[in-house]
Amino acid sequence: MIQEIIVTTQNEDGTTHIAPMGIREEKGLIIIAPFKPSATLENIQRNKSAVVNRIDDVRIFSGCLTGRKDWPLVPTDKVLGKRLQAALSHLELELDSVEDDDLRPRFYLKPVIEVTHSAFKGFNRAQSAVLEAAILVSRLKMLSKEKVEQELEYLTIAIDKTAGENEKIAWQWLMEKIDSFQKETKESETA
Ligand SMILES: Cc1cc2nc3c(=O)[nH]c(=O)nc-3n(C[C@H](O)[C@H](O)[C@H](O)COP(=O)(O)O)c2cc1C
Repeated sequence: MIQEIIVTTQNEDGTTHIAPMGIREEKGLIIIAPFKPSATLENIQRNKSAVVNRIDDVRIFSGCLTGRKDWPLVPTDKVLGKRLQAALSHLELELDSVEDDDLRPRFYLKPVIEVTHSAFKGFNRAQSAVLEAAILVSRLKMLSKEKVEQELEYLTIAIDKTAGENEKIAWQWLMEKIDSFQKETKESETA
């Protein structure tokens, strides 16, 4: 099973890098697999640590893909770094081993401490729709306009029926990004 979370890592200048990632668990270890090149990859290699943030504020997924990365942070307990203030729970990790790959290395990380901050409130279809749309945004260069529009048409149903304020904002940011990408693509085709 893959779980979509936010990884926070420390940059060389002491600031915190925030990136959505899909993680897996295998034999008690967490696997993070960033595509090269990646700041997350460089930071894990250098610091030998990372933090997994489990969130339900989908604005953070959407924000990371639309240039809004300034989310409140809190110092971690055991490993170098910070976690998201909005994390329902967070997991601090230390590097155990690396499976190198030209395209997508796999980091195996050992949990050091796990802290719950707030209860899971239940599934929400609009949050899932935002996640799916965020994945589409991360792959815009690889997908046809028709495929994106077809997927959005279906995802919009869950947004219209079940979104709260945060989901509406997150959705809006992603739609603006898709609009500007499609306009740029059209302009470069006609130029
Ligand atoms: C839900 C979601 C899951 C993602 N999972 C991954 C992942 O497992 N590996 C990856 O390299 N990028 C993933 N991405 C895309 C990265 O978040 C994005 O490309 C990011 O900029 C990674 O590069 P960075 O480490 O340099 O920030 C995901 C994006 C979303 C929205």
